[in-house]
Amino acid sequence: MAIERTLSIIKPDATKRNLTGKINSKLEEAGLRIIAQKRIHLSKAQAGVFYEVHAERPFYDELCEFMASAPVVVQVLEGEGAILKNREVMGATNPAEAAPGTIRAEFAESVGENSVHGSDAPETAAVEISYFFAGLELVG
Ligand code: CMP
Repeated sequence: MAIERTLSIIKPDATKRNLTGKINSKLEEAGLRIIAQKRIHLSKAQAGVFYEVHAERPFYDELCEFMASAPVVVQVLEGEGAILKNREVMGATNPAEAAPGTIRAEFAESVGENSVHGSDAPETAAVEISYFFAGLELVG
């Protein structure tokens, strides 16, 4: 399988509960390398651009409000099949449906406040990584 890069976000519900290290451990234990990482506080407008694909969904406003409610940790993960591997480690969007041992099963509070985001495909990973990071910040 090819070496890929994917964008990961540790969301406000998780940073508020001081879970960054525990989540990073799960990512690293799965063989993903954190090749870039920074803690930022998004504005609602910046969150809105990131989640533009969901602009027509009923939860869009609530989602943007939440993502701007406290700091997030944005990171680039690298590894074999990193996009799918990260989605496996995260677990299902709704924590009630997430497999045991996954990040969302252990830490997420609800479908909206679900602790982590991960890119869903190579094209979206490239766009999402470039939204937060310059090429020189990716240290593989
Ligand atoms: P994420 O993987 O970051 O991508 C889009 C996000 O929208 C998703 O995780 C959830 O946090 C959020 N989301 C999806 N469905 C709902 C919902 N029904 N209500 C609130 N937020 C949702």
